Amino acid sequence: MSKQQRVLTGITTTGTPHLGNYVGAIKPAIAASRDPKTDSFYFLADYHALVKCEDPERVQQSTLEIAATWLALGLDTSRSIFYRQSDIDEIPELTWLLTCVTAKGLMNRAHAYKAAVDDNVEAGEDPDWGITMGLFSYPVLMAADILMFNAHTVPVGKDQVQHLEMARDIAQRFNHRYGEHFVLPNAQVDEHVATLPGTDGRKMSKSYDNTIPLWLPEKKLRKAIMKIKTNSQEPGEPKDPDGASVYAVYAAFASEQQRSEMRRAFAEGIAWGEVKQQLFELINAELEGPRERYEALINDPLQVERELRQGAERAREISRPFIAELREAVGIRALG
Ligand code: TRP
Repeated sequence: MSKQQRVLTGITTTGTPHLGNYVGAIKPAIAASRDPKTDSFYFLADYHALVKCEDPERVQQSTLEIAATWLALGLDTSRSIFYRQSDIDEIPELTWLLTCVTAKGLMNRAHAYKAAVDDNVEAGEDPDWGITMGLFSYPVLMAADILMFNAHTVPVGKDQVQHLEMARDIAQRFNHRYGEHFVLPNAQVDEHVATLPGTDGRKMSKSYDNTIPLWLPEKKLRKAIMKIKTNSQEPGEPKDPDGASVYAVYAAFASEQQRSEMRRAFAEGIAWGEVKQQLFELINAELEGPRERYEALINDPLQVERELRQGAERAREISRPFIAELREAVGIRALG
């Protein structure tokens, strides 16, 4: 690999991809991976999944679904490195090296951990009730993901910015103690990428149970879109696109011209049912082709497995020599 900008991000394998993931993360990432000035690393964070999910079938199924999604949507795996975190043996090893330089006090300040403690205190429980070392150490594992490949740029949601700050802090401590081994990574929070509203108007998110799964078959996709909440304005009444979830979703998929045509239709009193029909057609046209590829991949998990293993092989061409360097640096060395 050349001295290019390295962009890296991970996807936790606990859920089923939905339209919000697609618009907010997957689509921009696949587009960015085509930039010749960057080397991109995308991986399935299945070790992270274990922190949130105790259902083994769910972790496996989600890994398959997310991998098949990225492949079906056209991620070019000859250009970017696409792998499963748990295939990279060097990551848990690096996690330990980093754990040994990470201040416990730093981890005490992590939002996710603090929120769990606060919930316990509020419920009158022991502050540590139900909190695993996995949750507590989550940011160290994430730092290892990033530092393992010396990523410069890490596209993430706002909720992950603190984890990036922690990764920088951990990298600095390691560099200070053992020499300059790590690049300090930067979070890239894209303010322009739409956060899609869900069927109830709040941000589309698994935790609100308001998502539209990305790979619904056509009929079900149409049904789900028809359920997006609107107000009770009648056909013929002029409507305000900026307050309407259906418009926000439409805008995320539409071209500029389609958007201005739709805004005009709102002003002219288009019926909600008609907006939804057009929204369905727009989304379906974009997903039709990938959906077929997705189905084929889901039905051939071995093909997905092969892709991931090839990705891991390429990733390990970087991580193997790097971990050897790091072991040497900390004094884990052959004797004599
Ligand atoms: N914690 C991230 C999330 O929940 C997923 C993740 C794991 C990640 N390792 C990463 C993201 C490394 C970026 C870089 O979204």
